[in-house]
Amino acid sequence: MPKTGEGRQPDAFYSAAGGERIEVLFDAAAIGSRIEALAREIAEGMSGDVLVVPILTGSFVFAADLIRALQKTPLTPVVDFLSLASYGTGNRSGGRVEILRDLEADPRGQDILLVDDILDTGRTLAYAVDLLTARQAGRVASCVLLDKVAARAVAIEPDYCGFECPDVFVVGYGMDLAHRFRELPFVGRIV
Ligand code: IMP
Ligand code: MG
Repeated sequence: MPKTGEGRQPDAFYSAAGGERIEVLFDAAAIGSRIEALAREIAEGMSGDVLVVPILTGSFVFAADLIRALQKTPLTPVVDFLSLASYGTGNRSGGRVEILRDLEADPRGQDILLVDDILDTGRTLAYAVDLLTARQAGRVASCVLLDKVAARAVAIEPDYCGFECPDVFVVGYGMDLAHRFRELPFVGRIV
């Protein structure tokens, strides 16, 4: 395929219906094959019944693909959602995390796989880990599609991570900017 003047593949950019130009950072094929590998990694580290807890809203697309990849492993996942909001300035969370919708299940004694779209400052995931630990869950593991390593404000590392992500605001594959772009099948950056 011919390269553009900047040395990029022409299809590395996408024109959204609203006129925005989005640079594709992780395309659908790369995400799909990484998720298959992630499911195998998770199945090596966990066993039996796992309560998969997607942290809404951004993780719903990733979680949907991840549990279908887990179907090919010996794990027996069940799913329960936790909806959290973190408040801050602009595009970065500021410290206060709030439960918008709680789990239906009692996590006591259960092995948990928290699933989030992106680990940024770490506040949201740290809050979720603390919450489930306080409720006496069994093992609490975490899986994020993207890790913005450079943005961390709280000392937390994911147990399973899809990709390291540059410290830029990304959209697509469930992630939004003002509720838009969740439907994109890839992860990209608005340019
Ligand atoms: P943290 O609490 O700062 O780690 O923020 C994590 C949450 O912020 C994620 O679950 C996302 O919902 C949101 N977030 C962080 N960075 C981005 C981004 O680049 N695009 C979209 N959402 C983001
Ligand atoms: Mg989120």
